[in-house]
Amino acid sequence: MSEKTATLFKTAFENEVYQGLTDYPKHLSSKYFYDVKGDALFQDIMNMPEYYLTDAEYEIFNAQKTAIAELFSSDYLPFDLVELGAGDGKKTKVLLSHFDKKGIDFQYVPIDISQNALDLLHDALQRELPNLNVKPVQGTYFEALAQVAQQQKNRKVILFLGSNIGNLLHDQAITFLKNVQDLLEEDDLFFVGFDQKKNPQTILDAYNDATGITAAFNKNILTRINSELGGNFNLDAFFHWEVYNPESGTAKSYLVSTTQQSVSIEQLELKIDFDPWETIHTEISQKYDDRTVHWLAEESGLQIVTQFTDAQKQYKNYVFKKA
Ligand code: AVI
Repeated sequence: MSEKTATLFKTAFENEVYQGLTDYPKHLSSKYFYDVKGDALFQDIMNMPEYYLTDAEYEIFNAQKTAIAELFSSDYLPFDLVELGAGDGKKTKVLLSHFDKKGIDFQYVPIDISQNALDLLHDALQRELPNLNVKPVQGTYFEALAQVAQQQKNRKVILFLGSNIGNLLHDQAITFLKNVQDLLEEDDLFFVGFDQKKNPQTILDAYNDATGITAAFNKNILTRINSELGGNFNLDAFFHWEVYNPESGTAKSYLVSTTQQSVSIEQLELKIDFDPWETIHTEISQKYDDRTVHWLAEESGLQIVTQFTDAQKQYKNYVFKKA
């Protein structure tokens, strides 16, 4: 089969699937887990008892909302609370409702790539917190953030929750943090969730639940290749495998081929062979300690203002400002 070049692909999805499956070892990006079904599976993950991350961040917000409110509104001037990747806003609503009750002068600016997610969130907030000033912005994080930074004159407090940063390798995380740092003014704050290193078994359980929800989430990338690119992956011929390295703090997800098999992807004019036990690496979920977060901050031109943690110290929200 002739080599395809990037220009022949209509979408980034096509291009990345082609590059990832013709590489050795094979890999695919976890950003492609998410479609309507993937979003629903991720909601299910967040409700699983094993997936402690959501509960821990929820606990931090509930237990420390007064201190968080004081930090965000210390100068009593109006500010924009900008959230990158707002989703359903379940955790953020704890803060929004508290700020609203305290009469804090702020505008909530959720940013999301999905207009549908923003519409649902906007409707829910209008019902639940009708006095709240909400200005959703649809787009990729940096385009939307640059637009907000240009148009709004208020101080910004930027939220990036859920340990979403953990889906980036360290050098990608530094690029991400630097891009935000570039858009920060002196008094702006950047509030980021970082899942912490802990008992390795707790981490493995969170990413390898007995009910198979995480496995279905991981395999959803194959389902998407089948339905959107004309692939013929047999989902039963792959299984989900999770590893965690307690030294580096990196959890990695794989799909493992149980047999010798060939898969074709019509739209990419591609036939891929799998050896028995060959892997596709699909996701990293990085776990952190204070030393690593300090290093990331230093590399990105940020300084740590303070941090909040849950009772069991499973998870931390760090607050940064421009160094
Ligand atoms: C979205 N992201 C932070 C989740 C995580 O923990 O890496 C995605 C996820 N993958 C498996 N379970 C949850």
